[in-house]
Amino acid sequence: MHTELCLLLFSFLFFHNTEALRPPGVKTETFLSPPFYLKPGQVANKYYFNIPFPKGHIALKSFNGEVVDEYDNPIPLHETYLHHWVVDRYYGLKDSVPGDENDLSKIILVRNSGLCKHTLGQYYGLGSETRKTDTWVPDPYGIVVGNPEEVPARYEERWLLNVHAIDTRGVTDRLGCTECRCNLYNVTVDEYGHEIRANYTGGLYCCYDKTQCKLRERFESVTRKIYLKYTVEWVEWEPRIVPVKVYILDITDTGTGSYSCKVEYEVKECNSEERKNGDCIDMQTTRLVMPHGGNIIYGVAHQHSGGAGSALYGQDGRLLCTSIPTYGDGKEAGNEANYIVGMSTCYPKPGSVKIADGETLTLISNYSSNQMHTGVMGLFYILVAEERPLPGPPKKMICFNSLISWCIEMSVKTGAVFIAGVTLISIATRSFYKLHRKNQYEALVAA
Ligand SMILES: *[C@@H]1O[C@H](CO)[C@@H](O)[C@H](O)[C@H]1NC(C)=O
Ligand SMILES: *[C@@H]1O[C@H](CO)[C@@H](O)[C@H](O)[C@H]1NC(C)=O
Ligand SMILES: *[C@@H]1O[C@H](CO)[C@@H](O)[C@H](O)[C@H]1NC(C)=O
Repeated sequence: MHTELCLLLFSFLFFHNTEALRPPGVKTETFLSPPFYLKPGQVANKYYFNIPFPKGHIALKSFNGEVVDEYDNPIPLHETYLHHWVVDRYYGLKDSVPGDENDLSKIILVRNSGLCKHTLGQYYGLGSETRKTDTWVPDPYGIVVGNPEEVPARYEERWLLNVHAIDTRGVTDRLGCTECRCNLYNVTVDEYGHEIRANYTGGLYCCYDKTQCKLRERFESVTRKIYLKYTVEWVEWEPRIVPVKVYILDITDTGTGSYSCKVEYEVKECNSEERKNGDCIDMQTTRLVMPHGGNIIYGVAHQHSGGAGSALYGQDGRLLCTSIPTYGDGKEAGNEANYIVGMSTCYPKPGSVKIADGETLTLISNYSSNQMHTGVMGLFYILVAEERPLPGPPKKMICFNSLISWCIEMSVKTGAVFIAGVTLISIATRSFYKLHRKNQYEALVAA
């Protein structure tokens, strides 16, 4: 008893954040991805189908990951840069054998609620900021998955993990390698053998699986065996849980045409005039229509090194959410200097930040333009709870109704029992009132 109290106090004093205080019923499990191997300067871009994941009809409450080595040591970003990890939901054939699913025509992707049509369909996904970015969905909300009624016959719900990591031990230009500058990777064709267009200076087309970033002369080191270690928190589904929809807004989404989400963009270096005025900020803006509205429950942006913050506004200009990067200032994992190690999040008081059906939102993404950047991103995740009809009649009414239907049922069966019941009830009521009058209580049933 004593120790419990102390522990509780301790947790209040020292872990006063959402990471530590979890309501009862929350389950936590930590998993490892399959291992992958990285030589100095090498890129891994892996897709793992049917990863270990909580099963059943559940509500997801959080998801976080980090890169660890085979001894479970966290690897700092300046050694293995975690460009991104993404978790997609899909239905896979129950009788498929491993490998089958690489053929995407054999699976059914279950995309998030939007807004991009062909990219960014994931439920979760972050990059270097994953160690210090909160993904907790507050009660009574949850990302509801695994409802067996939604899964087509012969299929089951599964999860796909994509990890993109870049080893930067011994490279000539760390930032350049993490920004996938094409000249450092010595590639002229993308991973499908298509010519990379001449004005494409950097981005994912140049740092696909097994590509190699430029190393310093004679640098040598061991091949590392690494894993994405990920932790999922969830609760079993129950009716009191309010489902939220996952939306991912992309700053490169022009809202027109089906391929308008380019995901990556370029930041040009500021000119001397801007530098003199201290205006070296690249601000991108896009307007996006939300087909369905609701209450924003959570919001967070995803940016790369150089990111200077992102914000989402409503149609009338009201601020919905701001998300600002935190840069590390040390060497250890979770605090690596010059890397984004966390993004601030929004937890509006439920009901206080509403979006209307069909509302046009404005997304802005700022980057420092003190130097040029390639392959940067400006995503904004929001979780939206759609307004639902008010819960059914109060309990008393249900009780009353069921009493009536019970009585009717009984009367059909035997009239005698019904009459006896009514008599009993009336006797009981009369003596009840008598008793109360005697004690000069107020009548319970107001006129
Ligand atoms: C760059 O690629 C070309 C052709 O693939 C190859 O011949 C050359 O050796 C590479 N250069 C370096 C520095 O790796
Ligand atoms: C590269 O050129 C194409 C047209 O050839 C243009 O559409 C695209 O915006 C250019 N990209 C950059 C990054 O300048
Ligand atoms: C983005 O940059 C503009 C121009 O410098 C600034 O006015 C705005 O406050 C910035 N917003 C965020 C969220 O950083």
